[in-house]
Amino acid sequence: MRHLSVWTATADLPSFPSLDDDIGADLVVVGGGIVGLTTALLATQNGFGRVVVLEARTLGAGTTGSTTGKVSAQHGLTYASLSKRLGEEAATQYARANQAGLDKIVELAEQMSIDCELTRAPSYLYTHESSRRKDLIDEAEAANRAGLSAELVTDTDLPFQVASAVRFGDQVHFHPGKYLAGLAQAFVDAGGLIYENSRVQSFHERGGQVHVKTARGAIRAKHALLATLLPPGLTGGFFARAKPIRSYAFAVRLSEQAPVSMSLSIDQPSRSIRPWRAPDGNGLIIGGNGHQTGDSTDEQACYEDLQRWTSNTFDVNSFEFRWSAQDYQTFDQVPYVGKVPLHKSLYVATGFRKWGLTNGTAAAMMVIDQITGRSNPWQKVFDTTRIGDTKAIVEAAGHNLKSGAELTGGHLMRALRSPEPELRPGEGGIVKIKGDTVGAYRDHDGQLHVVRPTCTHLGCPLHWNKAETSWDCSCHGSRFTADGDVLDGPAKAPLHRPHD
Ligand SMILES: Cc1cc2nc3c(=O)[nH]c(=O)nc-3n(C[C@H](O)[C@H](O)[C@H](O)COP(=O)(O)OP(=O)(O)OC[C@H]3O[C@@H](n4cnc5c(N)ncnc54)[C@H](O)[C@@H]3O)c2cc1C
Ligand code: FES
Repeated sequence: MRHLSVWTATADLPSFPSLDDDIGADLVVVGGGIVGLTTALLATQNGFGRVVVLEARTLGAGTTGSTTGKVSAQHGLTYASLSKRLGEEAATQYARANQAGLDKIVELAEQMSIDCELTRAPSYLYTHESSRRKDLIDEAEAANRAGLSAELVTDTDLPFQVASAVRFGDQVHFHPGKYLAGLAQAFVDAGGLIYENSRVQSFHERGGQVHVKTARGAIRAKHALLATLLPPGLTGGFFARAKPIRSYAFAVRLSEQAPVSMSLSIDQPSRSIRPWRAPDGNGLIIGGNGHQTGDSTDEQACYEDLQRWTSNTFDVNSFEFRWSAQDYQTFDQVPYVGKVPLHKSLYVATGFRKWGLTNGTAAAMMVIDQITGRSNPWQKVFDTTRIGDTKAIVEAAGHNLKSGAELTGGHLMRALRSPEPELRPGEGGIVKIKGDTVGAYRDHDGQLHVVRPTCTHLGCPLHWNKAETSWDCSCHGSRFTADGDVLDGPAKAPLHRPHD
C-alpha cells in the first residue's frame, strides 16, 4: 500500500516555476487548492487583468489533494443545528451557497472540458442507532426548509443495515486532483500566472495596495486573497476562531460490487464512504477517525482501526493508498469568507469543516463579488467579523492550555524518563541529547534529525506524529517535517534547530 493521497498520485498536475522577481498584479491569490484556483479562474473570467497564484509547495499539496472528493450540500448534521442556533434564514443561505458551489463545479468542469470523473450519485447520512433517528428526522426537515431536497429512508445500497438515513439525491463525486489540474490549465490558458514553491512569508497593506513577499520575489497587487486553509501568522485572529481536525483515508479495491452512493455515519467514530474508479473500476474511498490535530493520539492506531473496520465491512481485494489530512472547523460551523477585519484589500476564506469543495467554490464566488462590488446574498452568513460561539472559543483556549500542559508534563516527561532514550530507525520523540532536551527522529537510514519541539506560531509544545513522521501542534494545527520545515497551519517560520 502506498502512503500518499490517491488523488495526487493519479493526477497529472502541471508544474510551474517559483517566483524570483518583483512584479505587479491586479489580484494575487495565495494558495493553490480549490479556493485559490477557483478564485483565480473566476477572476480571469471576470476581466480582472493580471492574476497571479502563489503556492508554497505544489498545486494540490494541501487539503484539496487529500480530500474525500464528495461534492455535496449534505454536510453531516448541519441544517438542524444551523437553523436552531443562527436562524432559518442563515441555514437557507448556507444551503444556497453550497448548492451554488456544487453547480459551479459541474459548470466549470463542463465549460473547461475537465475530465475529472465527475459522477452524479445520492448521498446518505446514516445511523446504526435507533435512538438517533430523531436527529436525522430533524436534519431532513431542516434541510427541506432550507430549500434542499432531503428524504428519510431506511434502505441504502450499503452492505449493512442502517437504523435510519437521510438521502440527498443528485449529488456529485469527482477526482479532485484532476479537477485542480483542469482549473490550473484553464487559468493559465486565460493568461493567469502560477508560481509554485513560493511560500508567502509576509504581507501588508500600504498605499492602497497589498505587498506580498516570498523568499526570492515580491508582488504588489490591488487585492490579495489568502486561500491557505488558515491564514498564516496571526492575521484576523482566525487561528483562535477555528480548530484543526485531522482525518484518515484509504483507497481500496473491492472483490464485490462497490456501492454507487456516497455515505457518512453520524455515529462515532464516523465513517465516510464513496465509490472510487480504481484501475479495474471497482474501488472505494473510506475515511474517518477524525481528531484534533496534534492531540496526544496514536495516529498509527487511527489508521489501523479504520483499516480493520474496512476489512470487516467490505470484501476488500487490496488496500492501495492511505493518507491523512486536516481542515479547520469554526465554532458555529460556518466558514469565514470575505475581507480580513481591519483590511481594505485583503480577503480570506477559511474554516470549511471538511466541506470545502462546495463551501470553497462558493467562497471564490463571494470573494469575486466583494472585490467587484456586487452584492451577494450569502455573504452575511459567512461574515469574517462575527465572533461566533464565544463559549466554544473559551473552551478551545482551555483545550490548548490543557494539551500544552499534557504534552510538557506527560508525554515529554515520559520520554525523558524512558530508560532507553536512544531512538531506533523509524522512531521519533522528545529526547535528551548531551543534556539538551530536543525533538529527534531517526530515519530508516539511521540519520538523526533534531529540532526544538516548540511551535514557531505561538510557542505551544509539539507532538511527534509517528504515522506521518511530522511534528504536530494541537493549539492551531501547525505541522512541521522531521527537519522542521512548515507543512501546514498558521506557522510561518521553520522550527529552530539546536545549533541555531
Ligand atoms: C480528510 C478530509 C476529507 C475531506 N473530504 C471532503 C469532501 O468529501 N468534500 C468536501 O467538500 N470537503 C472535504 N474536505 C474539506 C476540503 O478538502 C477542504 O476544505 C478544501 O480542500 C480546502 O481547500 P483550500 O483551497 O482552502 O485549502 P488547501 O487545499 O489546503 O490549499 C491551500 C494551499 O495553500 C498553500 N499555502 C499554505 N500557506 C501558504 C503560504 N504561506 N504561501 C503560499 N501558499 C501557501 C498550501 O500549500 C496549499 O496548497 C475534506 C477534508 C479532509 C481533511
Ligand atoms: S499552531 Fe499556534 S502555537 Fe502552534
